[in-house]
Amino acid sequence: KHTYGDGNHSCSSLYMASGQLSRAEALACSGCRHACHVMLYCDTNTLLFGSIPIRHIVLPLLLPQMQMRFDGLLGFPGGFVNLSEESLEAGLGRELLEELGVAFQILEEDHVDSCFAPASSPASSTSPRLITHFYTKKMEEGQIRAVETAAVTTATDHGQEVLGMVRVPLHSTKGGGGLASFLSHSFVGNARFQLLHTLLRLHLVAPEELREALARSLKIQA
Ligand code: GTP
Ligand code: MN
Ligand code: MN
Ligand code: MN
Ligand code: MN
Ligand code: MN
Repeated sequence: KHTYGDGNHSCSSLYMASGQLSRAEALACSGCRHACHVMLYCDTNTLLFGSIPIRHIVLPLLLPQMQMRFDGLLGFPGGFVNLSEESLEAGLGRELLEELGVAFQILEEDHVDSCFAPASSPASSTSPRLITHFYTKKMEEGQIRAVETAAVTTATDHGQEVLGMVRVPLHSTKGGGGLASFLSHSFVGNARFQLLHTLLRLHLVAPEELREALARSLKIQA
């Protein structure tokens, strides 16, 4: 049996539980490290027509952006923020400039939730805890396409921390391809859960479809 947690936040993952904090609680933890990541995506009105032929044309036009990281894991753009020098949103904007080559203004209202990162090993309990702050930002399709270009031309981190931006396939093929195959890859931290949670929350994928894709992805992994 697989669950998405309580559906209200993206902290819990399929494999490990981690706790949600309020923004204020998170900011009060000065001994914690903080990192901010964002899902940039564009939407299209045509999605409102729910017919299957239209959806097959429309789905590829939803372009949620993730990245292949230097460590071979999929994650969202963003990174560590130094709260003694910058706000969460300013730090996220700096990271996006480094990783995407485009300056964005991410606002407090784009904040989704803050979570303690899942502990990767018992040894990591000695280092400061990491709080990951997650944001979503809807953009115009042209802006997303501009990001995809800038990420390989002007971004200083291209080829270093970031090996490439990828679109998330939201469709499902009969053979279990598309979203299920994408979900079967390895993700950093709770990025997979952040993705699942966001697809549900923003109604980018229907709950039953997501459940099915997730179940298939676990079969692919096994
Ligand atoms: P450096 O400049 O090399 O330090 O990298 P960075 O500042 O870009 O940091 P990074 O994006 O690697 O994020 C910092 C930490 O947050 C990582 O070590 C992961 O533990 C975690 N992390 C990275 N990406 C994600 C993500 O998409 N979601 C979540 N929840 N955590 C992430
Ligand atoms: Mn970075
Ligand atoms: Mn990063
Ligand atoms: Mn950084
Ligand atoms: Mn860096
Ligand atoms: Mn670096």
